[in-house]
Amino acid sequence: MGNNTETVVQSIEWRDDHVRILDQTYLPNREVYSDIRDVGRMWEAIKKLRIRGAPAIGIAAAYGMYLGIKDLPENAFESFWVEVERVADYLETARPTAVNLQWATERIKTTIQAHKEKDISEIKEIVLKTAQTIHDEDKRICKKIGENGVQLVGKGAKILTHCNTGSLATGQYGTALSVIFHAHEQGNDIQVWVDETRPLLQGSRLTSWELMNAEIPMKLITDSTAGSLMRRGEVDMVIVGTDRVAANGDTANKIGTYPLAVLAHENEVPFYVAVPLSTIDMNLENGDNIPIEERDGDEIANFNDAQVAPKKVETYNPAFDVTPHKYITGFITEKGIVEPPFDENFKELFED
Ligand code: MRU
Repeated sequence: MGNNTETVVQSIEWRDDHVRILDQTYLPNREVYSDIRDVGRMWEAIKKLRIRGAPAIGIAAAYGMYLGIKDLPENAFESFWVEVERVADYLETARPTAVNLQWATERIKTTIQAHKEKDISEIKEIVLKTAQTIHDEDKRICKKIGENGVQLVGKGAKILTHCNTGSLATGQYGTALSVIFHAHEQGNDIQVWVDETRPLLQGSRLTSWELMNAEIPMKLITDSTAGSLMRRGEVDMVIVGTDRVAANGDTANKIGTYPLAVLAHENEVPFYVAVPLSTIDMNLENGDNIPIEERDGDEIANFNDAQVAPKKVETYNPAFDVTPHKYITGFITEKGIVEPPFDENFKELFED
């Protein structure tokens, strides 16, 4: 794979009558593609992180809606609608934190309601088209995020990132990684510190894989290395993605993001969040009510299928944390950079 933004990987694709995903649980050792033909398989793929990252989860859910309704009987709209709601509720239980999942199912539901007078066979086609539109829009939005973020990246910048926010996590390009891809493409001579991102290693398995494929200079570090690097002046900026931003700018992202933000603040390192507007939840006043996914304790008590803690150890394994907005320098969106005060500036952006 070359080093320009056009050649980056596709994590999810629509193929005539089914969805093909690159199963991320096998990366970086094997590139396994998996065909998904029903909503149950899509739910499982989201739950098990075969497809992951907030925007990609939204795209998968939109296609999942189509897979869940495509074989429904085509008689009365009322009974069809009951099933539509059932499919949406089911998909929404797969993962709670990324608002994109709910955003996508809501968008499909609103579209169906807007066409309720049409034949159900026609409505089904419209649902598929809407899912494809959500997918295409995400590619364009991520490209724009990358282009907008480049202005913040100085020549020779050392950038630290957490989790995976690249093409694997989105329709294409990524969010935080889109900024990194675009800065590299413009010859900014950047270097990236990649947090391994315990416990599921999205940083070491996925971000390293994407950056190395794009031939971007990077070094993998353990999560606990970030602080000492910042203290030694080895980090010029932090850029992360997010699963949900509240109306005041409080930001949920992969567990370990909050301590990074505090460390960045302490060491006067700018801390940016790259985010499509679809991930900003204007219905939540602040981050206190963002639902945080808790995952199976086996993910931390085991490593590479080997047990690394005593049998029956009690665990606590939240997948995300919330960074208070006061630690965030700015948000990089498809509409430009949003600076504090975030509550006022988000409001303005959405009113536009
Ligand atoms: O549990 P994951 O791998 O789905 O978590 C993903 C993240 O935390 C990403 O930072 C976030 O979804 C933004 S992706 C562009």
